[in-house]
Amino acid sequence: MPASSTLPRLKDLGLLFRLGVTCLVLTLLGGYVVSGIHLRKHYDNRDESPGFTLDDVRAAYHGISAPSPLRAALQDGHPEDLAQADRDALLAWLDSDSLSQDYDNLDLGDEAPAEIIAVSCLDCHARGSEDPGSAIPLEYWDDVRPLAFSTDIQPTPDEIIAVSQHTHAPTMAMVLLIVGALGAMTRWARAFVGLLVAVGGVGLLLDMAAWWLAKDNAAWVYAIVGGGLAQGASVMLLGLISLIDMWLPGGRSRPNLD
Ligand code: HEC
Repeated sequence: MPASSTLPRLKDLGLLFRLGVTCLVLTLLGGYVVSGIHLRKHYDNRDESPGFTLDDVRAAYHGISAPSPLRAALQDGHPEDLAQADRDALLAWLDSDSLSQDYDNLDLGDEAPAEIIAVSCLDCHARGSEDPGSAIPLEYWDDVRPLAFSTDIQPTPDEIIAVSQHTHAPTMAMVLLIVGALGAMTRWARAFVGLLVAVGGVGLLLDMAAWWLAKDNAAWVYAIVGGGLAQGASVMLLGLISLIDMWLPGGRSRPNLD
């Protein structure tokens, strides 16, 4: 007798049972797709720039701090021929709390950042310029603003991570246990089902642990993303192979049952 016959096969269970399980698995997988989309939206702006990237996850679990690119360029001595007084005025403005108010403040006269930039930067940093600097236009406040602010994003507070984990960890583990059990009741090779369960289990554990570890070490952000993807893919595949098994001809353990 093949070893797999120790578990009942999904195909041995009645038509109504399979119909019900099919609906439940479809609901589960649909829920995963929806929450995947929601996750993207939820984290989209964590790094304060549009689009969902690794930096969004990094911002949420580790925090991000980066100096303003404008400040960094000026401090690095860019552009070479900028008068020291103008450089100092721009740096003082970047350090102030009134970046947007003072950008084109008329009271500042020639020392207004917009004036200095117009005179000293736009030869290169205008859209129509021939210089490669035109790739980074600085013509309007909307161009300058994203480069002016430094980034200081605090990671999600521990209490919120704990609350989120309190709902996510048990639910996702249960889901994986159940689709794993369903997968084990199919005709698919044991080793294949085992591999999917192992990948999902390791992925989920890594993901959940990395939520905490990423706070101190940003490298764990890769484990959050990789572990999350691994367990998501594992749930999807286990669900799919169960669906396929339930409706494909054959696959019973004891063909004489009905
Ligand atoms: C002679 C041309 C020229 C002038 C003048 C100039 N820049 Fe640039 N700037 C460049 C070039 C070229 C780059 C690199 C563009 C790229 O990486 O595609 C650059 C890059 C930058 C960057 C981006 C640095 C980064 O980290 O990527 C900033 C910010 C910047 N310039 C600010 C300024 C400011 C402010 C001024 C005026 C005070 C100025 N630049 C004047 C040519 C110029």
